[in-house]
Amino acid sequence: MKQYNIAVIPGDGIGMEVMPEGVKALQAAQQAVGGFELRFEEFSWGTEYYLRTGKMMPSDALKILAQFDAIYLGAVGMPTLAPDNVTLWGLLLPIRKSFQQYINLRPIRLLPGLSGPLKGKGPDDINFVCVRENSEGEYAGAGGRVHVDTEHEVAIQTSVFTRHAVERVMRFGFELARKSAKKKLTSVTKSNACQYSMVFWDEVFVQLAAQYPDVQTDKWHIDSMCARFVTHPQTLDVVVASNLFADILTDLGGAIQGSLGTPPSANLNPERKYPSMFEPVHGSAPDIYGKKIANPIGTVWAGAMMLDWLGEKTASARVMDGLIAVTQAGKTLTPDLGGTANTLQAGDAIRAAILSKP
Ligand code: NAD
Ligand code: IPM
Ligand code: MN
Repeated sequence: MKQYNIAVIPGDGIGMEVMPEGVKALQAAQQAVGGFELRFEEFSWGTEYYLRTGKMMPSDALKILAQFDAIYLGAVGMPTLAPDNVTLWGLLLPIRKSFQQYINLRPIRLLPGLSGPLKGKGPDDINFVCVRENSEGEYAGAGGRVHVDTEHEVAIQTSVFTRHAVERVMRFGFELARKSAKKKLTSVTKSNACQYSMVFWDEVFVQLAAQYPDVQTDKWHIDSMCARFVTHPQTLDVVVASNLFADILTDLGGAIQGSLGTPPSANLNPERKYPSMFEPVHGSAPDIYGKKIANPIGTVWAGAMMLDWLGEKTASARVMDGLIAVTQAGKTLTPDLGGTANTLQAGDAIRAAILSKP
């Protein structure tokens, strides 16, 4: 029987509330489908750990994680206790970078039964995927502060766009589009203002498009793309964007699919040299943390993406079917989706739906 070792990092805030529901759903899929075994090992790294030790995770954390088949993450950050830049550069971002998880896949899909905020747009209209560059761009981490604490203080944060990274993320997008029904790839740019980085981005897009004549392409500036997410989501199929642009767009994606509590995110190392990491798009939600009303759907869906990545396609589909059965029934939704269920009740309903015969 195939065994998969999964490192579970609940992290901070509602990460600790939704992660048990994600694990429960995956265990239900294992039970229902059979033929494989998931071995979960939990690591209590995060802001509490930082306050105790001065580090978000131990110095050999990456060595430990490298031995796992995948990483399942809740959320990181508790800004009242420690600065976000310290906590995120101490845990989440080093994993994405060190494990060369340069593709961040973020499906945007209004699940059947849910009504999003867009009038007249249903599940058939809101169903596309964002391919986020996940290794450099605006998140390269290049920069510094000069003349600190003086009147002349300067802060520099440099974006880095390399041909290597831009080509590989766009190629991933083209390959995905080639296999999709609409066969369309949309590039997000800002080449009107960013005359170096984004003009380069556009050039690489045109060069690669020539190798994919079967894929229809278009491009939009990030500002108009934001509007099109709202007005024309049905025209989107695969969207490729830089690290920051896609970060922003995918929270908007969460909103148009009903709640930021629902979208998942897969940080992929396509070469499989390192483990990939699966997490909801949302953060630690300090405003609702402790109320136990966090929506577990994004985490469960990320778990389905993890099963798919591990090759357990039937189990992955079973999780998605369970999720959709619950959204369609509409009886055990959390308050962000207009329901009255708490996290545990929503998670129990998803688990039961996965276990019940289709
Ligand atoms: P957030 O995603 O945590 O919350 C934004 C809003 O969405 C809040 O009103 C929150 O209550 C709501 N929300 C989020 N997830 C929800 C869920 N599952 N169910 C119901 N409502 C949900 O974003 P933020 O407030 O900007 O960030 C809070 C902290 O999380 C910060 O420290 C931030 O840096 C961090 N963060 C971490 C990650 C990550 O670990 N991947 C992602 C985003 C933000
Ligand atoms: C996300 C988050 C992170 C990001 C933050 C917490 C660094 O917002 O995963 O979308 O910007 O990538
Ligand atoms: Mn984000």
